[in-house]
Amino acid sequence: STKKLLILAGDGIGPEVMAQVRRVIDWMAKKRHIAFDVSEGLIGGASYDKFGHPLTDETMQDAFAADAVLLGAVGGPKWDNLSFDVKPERGLLRLRKDLELFANLRPAFVFDALAEASSLKTDLVKGLDIMIVRELTGGVYFGQPRGIETLPNGERRGVNTQVYTTSEIVRIADVAFDLAKKRGNKVHSVEKANVMESGVLWREEVQKLHDAKYPSVELQHMYADNCAMQLVRAPKQFDVIVTDNLFGDILSDCAAMLTGSLGMLPSASLGAADAKGNRRAVYEPVHGSAPDIAGKDIANPLATLLSFAMMLRYSFDMRAEADLLEQAVKNVLDGGLRTGDIMQAGKAKVSTTVMGESIVREMDKL
Ligand code: NAI
Ligand code: MG
Repeated sequence: STKKLLILAGDGIGPEVMAQVRRVIDWMAKKRHIAFDVSEGLIGGASYDKFGHPLTDETMQDAFAADAVLLGAVGGPKWDNLSFDVKPERGLLRLRKDLELFANLRPAFVFDALAEASSLKTDLVKGLDIMIVRELTGGVYFGQPRGIETLPNGERRGVNTQVYTTSEIVRIADVAFDLAKKRGNKVHSVEKANVMESGVLWREEVQKLHDAKYPSVELQHMYADNCAMQLVRAPKQFDVIVTDNLFGDILSDCAAMLTGSLGMLPSASLGAADAKGNRRAVYEPVHGSAPDIAGKDIANPLATLLSFAMMLRYSFDMRAEADLLEQAVKNVLDGGLRTGDIMQAGKAKVSTTVMGESIVREMDKL
């Protein structure tokens, strides 16, 4: 049956990079007779401007009805001074929370053609292929109590609470072990059990799940600060890293920089599997709305195209098409085309549009 795809391009460069995905969707319809039922909606500042809210109930309903959501990016200086509840980012948080997308998959890999662009020595990152699995709906970002309060002595106090339950830990660890089996068969579970109670529980539950369900997967526990150090020292030791919301936020940004470009990195956020094994899912580039370069047709569309490839692979089980798109990206990079953010000496600097057109032309040849 036709897959329902909801596109939320968002703000800044979101619509520009999303236009390149539309090229690939059109190509698939024309050349492979794979049609998606595509609808579009607003999120973030674009939605606030029209409806006074960064994500409306109607759009939320569309997201529930879709087989997968492809998101651009939200935010920008225009909306920076809005009150907390209607900030563009709240739209994104609501989408993740309401769809119960508890697993954020952030791959960090390096295309050979770009290995020199890393901030690390080329040999440290060439062939790098890490998958960070970040818990996305719990932890300190949502834990109660939270807030800013005024103490009797007049001082103010900001409070956030790190909370994890066993079921929250087990379901995210399950995603990580399952992925590891399809990859390098190795999981690093990352917390700070040395100073945090939630970390102690995390470690115990991950170990229990491992022993009961995934004994053949190699499991190592690691403190988050050590993990940050190891990511920079010897990143290729990692296959799958599973960690909480806050550490995952930081470590995945760190891993992203190992690869040299934010403009290259896709992500997926997955929910629980239903009876048929389908998971709710939102796919999006790791980068933000890049207001500094918006509207100039110079943004790198590859992170969003690779997010679409992840969607094909994980939500639609279209592995051949995912491989084809990823191979086209590789070939175009090998051929020397670069957007400004990944520009190297001796390569051809191209626009967002030309990059998108080149990917589709390459898919035609493959
Ligand atoms: P950003 O990722 O938007 O930009 C950081 C730097 O990377 C900028 O110099 C930008 O030009 C560059 N960059 C990002 N994506 C690029 C691409 N595809 N091609 C070429 N260059 C690219 O992060 P920043 O500047 O911290 O945030 C800007 C806005 O985006 C803020 O409003 C922020 O809240 C929002 N944001 C949204 C996210 C989302 O929608 N998931 C994630 C991160 C930030
Ligand atoms: Mg971040």
